[in-house]
Amino acid sequence: MDASDDYVLGRGAAESVRLDAQHLLWRLHQGYLLHPSISVTRDMRIAEVGTGTASSPIQSSFMATTISDRQFPHHDLLPENVTLGLLNSLEDTPSELHDQYDVVHLRMWASNLRSRNVNMLIQNIEKMLKPGGFIQWEEADLMHQVVKTDAATTFEANINELPSFMKFANPLFALSWVHDLPKSFELQGFEVKHAEHKVFQPSQVQLCTNTYLLALKEIIAGIKSTSSQVPGLNIGSHEEALAQLLENHTRVVYNWGPLSLLAQTRRV
Ligand SMILES: C[S@@+](CC[C@H](N)C(=O)[O-])C[C@H]1O[C@@H](n2cnc3c(N)ncnc32)[C@H](O)[C@@H]1O
Repeated sequence: MDASDDYVLGRGAAESVRLDAQHLLWRLHQGYLLHPSISVTRDMRIAEVGTGTASSPIQSSFMATTISDRQFPHHDLLPENVTLGLLNSLEDTPSELHDQYDVVHLRMWASNLRSRNVNMLIQNIEKMLKPGGFIQWEEADLMHQVVKTDAATTFEANINELPSFMKFANPLFALSWVHDLPKSFELQGFEVKHAEHKVFQPSQVQLCTNTYLLALKEIIAGIKSTSSQVPGLNIGSHEEALAQLLENHTRVVYNWGPLSLLAQTRRV
């Protein structure tokens, strides 16, 4: 976690590899980078907010932004169509970014937003869109998980009881906005062109389990580094249970539900 923000996951090399593995997972799950109903033109401009490793430089002019540059590739390695920048998308959008983009892309915001108001984020990113522009969003629904084996379900129940985990990630307390995302876009005046809640295909289940267990390890490490003073917080038992799951990772299923959404602004 950077001292300057409250991101709960890590930003080192191992965490970047996990993000890139999740990128592969989404590619396999969806079969596209840009939703097929968006017409691709030579001069279109695409922005990604909350990028990690900027691993989805889609065709056309692509700007990827986030609040920390620690996982950005070196600028010498960037294709000409890609620019990277720092932007806090939970703050008001700077006027120079207004009306600039045909598509704004978001993915895996659950750990950023937690209980904060998703409508504020939607309003901020809508400002970036040209009239008729699209928001494409892929999210992990932690309220509709697929968890199998006794050890995994026990770990899931116990970790959700952990007060600090509730603050970071407990779905019942913080993450109901994910399932309601299509409704939120409708209420904000968008036309929802596509909304899909699915589970992963059998061939993708293991990759989701592996990346999710590693993300949980990062979250527990984040809790540990910030909560050492909390009396009675027995992080060690959760760490041990998670270590057991990782040891037996091919014998458990621990998946979040993939949610995909495409919404078009009605602004003309
Ligand atoms: C879980 S990662 C997902 C990265 C990328 N979207 C992906 O799917 O590979 C979340 C990213 O959002 C960034 N982030 C956190 N809070 C943010 C904010 N308020 N505004 C913009 N980016 C933010 C984090 O630094 C991190 O890079």
